[in-house]
Amino acid sequence: MATSVPFDLPAAQLEGKVAFITGASRGLGAGLAARLAEHGVQLGLCARHEPERPRGSEAITRAVDVTDVAHLERFADAVAETLGPIDLWINNAGIIDPMGPLRDLEPDHIQQALAVNIGGVITGTQIFIDRSADAPPSRRALINISSGAASSVYEGWSVYGASKAAVDQLTRVVAAEEPGLVCHSVAPGVVDTPMQTFIREQDAETFPAIDRFVDIHEQGAWNSPAWIADHLLGILAGTLAPGSVVYRVPDEPRT
Ligand SMILES: NC(=O)c1ccc[n+]([C@@H]2O[C@H](COP(=O)([O-])OP(=O)(O)OC[C@H]3O[C@@H](n4cnc5c(N)ncnc54)[C@H](OP(=O)(O)O)[C@@H]3O)[C@@H](O)[C@H]2O)c1
Repeated sequence: MATSVPFDLPAAQLEGKVAFITGASRGLGAGLAARLAEHGVQLGLCARHEPERPRGSEAITRAVDVTDVAHLERFADAVAETLGPIDLWINNAGIIDPMGPLRDLEPDHIQQALAVNIGGVITGTQIFIDRSADAPPSRRALINISSGAASSVYEGWSVYGASKAAVDQLTRVVAAEEPGLVCHSVAPGVVDTPMQTFIREQDAETFPAIDRFVDIHEQGAWNSPAWIADHLLGILAGTLAPGSVVYRVPDEPRT
């Protein structure tokens, strides 16, 4: 059972809302989908591998690569046609590869990471802004999933950290340009996902801070996807108002 959040999640306001999540086939995206479904939020879910439908709410799923602009647009339209206008758009898809000192990284791998972590977020953001302009007035929220690596220096994560810093700045500018949308770049904290397993598989030469993440794993000091999802729903409902566009989900209290 997830820890209760210290703000209201008004059921009547959230039930039946429509959320779109990229990167929902595993990890944080799949966990967000499961929790949103528990709150009665309808879902459009995509990743390169077609996500599973969570129990408890209506969901449309599709295999879509976020670097394929036309495909992402078509899927967003299909979701809105079937479920209604999208209220909450979560650009969650992201990759941490390539890891290691920048001098050792392959240019093709770097370009692929930028295409997903920045390009995919820019595309998703544009699609949501464009579709929101045609939808009936309502409180709508854009969430771009960032990382503490946007501002902390982790050797071995130059490309990943730079891509997340770009996501933060993109979101700040979009928040200024689109006063009708609630926009936040959200660092979720550390979450127990396949990405974290991959991080722990690296050697200290590739990723010198590996011990920090091994310790978090051993202590189970994670933020759960449900805790993070509830913060995103608080932002959508307006019962949680982060003081800035860039927001770090607080650490989940451990019982
Ligand atoms: N886990 C953490 O501790 C942590 C901390 C801070 C920030 N984050 C951020 O949280 C987000 C989710 O991370 P995670 O830990 O859940 O990672 P993960 O376990 O590796 O899952 C990543 C998800 O993104 C999808 N994806 C990757 N490339 C894609 C593409 N080109 N098009 C569509 N979907 C794609 C993957 O599905 P397919 O392979 O099926 O495409 C998968 O569903 C990322 O943005 C990550 O940077 C995670």
